[in-house]
Order: sequence, then C-alpha cells, then structure tokens
Amino acid sequence: MDIWLATTNRGKVLEFEMLLEPLIKKGLKVKTLGDLATYYPPEETGATFLDNARIKARSLKAMQPREWIVAEDSGLAVEGMNGLPGVHSARYAGPKASDFENRVKLLKIMGLKQLANRNASFLCQMVVFDPEGQEHLFSGELKGTIAKNEVGRNGFGYDSVFIPEGETKTLAELGVAYKNKVSHRSQATNKLLELLSTKLV
Ligand code: IMP
Repeated sequence: MDIWLATTNRGKVLEFEMLLEPLIKKGLKVKTLGDLATYYPPEETGATFLDNARIKARSLKAMQPREWIVAEDSGLAVEGMNGLPGVHSARYAGPKASDFENRVKLLKIMGLKQLANRNASFLCQMVVFDPEGQEHLFSGELKGTIAKNEVGRNGFGYDSVFIPEGETKTLAELGVAYKNKVSHRSQATNKLLELLSTKLV
C-alpha cells in the first residue's frame, strides 16, 4: 500500500518517515510530491490551517485520485501576538523567506514589543483522503514558550526558538526522537497510524 504526502518540506518528510516506521516495516510505501513528474503547488490562500491543508490535499488528490493522500498544514501561534505567525509561519519574513529569516523576524518583533507573555503553540491540522475519497481530519498541538535567542541545530522551522512545556531546552536541542514523542505532527500522525493499521493487517 502507498500513501502520498503532499509536501516537499524535507524536515516534515523525515519526521513522517520516522513516525510511520511501524507500518513501513509492514510494507507501507511513502511517496511525496518529489515522486511526481510534474506538480504545480497550489497557493495556500486559506485563512486557517484546515483550509490550507484541504487545498494541499485536494490538489494532490486531483493527480492521484485512487490513492491515500495525506496533507497537513502547521505553524506556530504566539499568544501575545494574537496567534501570529499562524498560517503565515512558512512565509513570515516574506514570500521566499528562509526558516532562519522567519526566526530572526519573530525574535525581533517579540523583542521590540517587549512581550512578557512568550507562550506559544505549534499546531498541526491534517487532512487525509482514503482511496474511496472519504476525508479524515486529525490534529495536534504542542504547547511551550518562545526562547529569547535561538539555540540548537536539530530540526527545522522554528524548532530552535521553541521550548516545549516542562522543558528548559529548545526542540532543536532536544532532538527529533524527543520531538516525535510529543509534537503536534506526531499527535496527528499517531491518529493516522491507527486508521492505516486497520487497513494493513
Ligand atoms: P507549511 O509547510 O505551509 O505547513 O508551513 C509550515 C511552517 O510552519 C514551516 O515552514 C515552519 O516554519 C513552521 N512549522 C511547522 N511545523 C513545525 C515544526 O515542527 N517545527 C518548526 N517549525 C514548524
């Protein structure tokens, strides 16, 4: 059985592959947008993570209508900034911004605003289409705080500025094995695993 992930984000693909390993061992094959000969990514114009995850899922489903399709939209919501960068997380510092530029902008704005409330959450909304075309929704949230400076070299995106609740180190210091036990993406993927395991017995 194949599942198609609607992403090219290397960090996300690596995490998914680790999380789906129990089923990969049973024969599940993970494909990504990189396995398609051509693909024109849709514009993520939605106002919510769910809207954007659906846009990505539907666009890949149009190309692979009889396959399992998994899309997710995720990002960082900072409490003292009314949930920003939110759905703009990937492009917070501009349309072609790097992860580093996004982190620099976030820390700069929080510093300029002298925000005492540094609470934040990583949010993940997943949209799955099964081969019959039925939609399944799974989500996850990881609570924490935004560090004053970036620390750590593992992970991607905002991992090096995010300290999970109950920890003193950033996700980029704690590493991917830790992250996959608690993350917003692992919570959603574990629910997907439950669904897929009923099909792969
Ligand atoms: P998407 O690919 O449109 O869903 O964009 C998600 C963006 O949110 C990424 O580019 C990162 O900036 C951020 N993000 C989502 N999940 C994570 C994570 O697990 N760690 C760090 N940053 C994340």
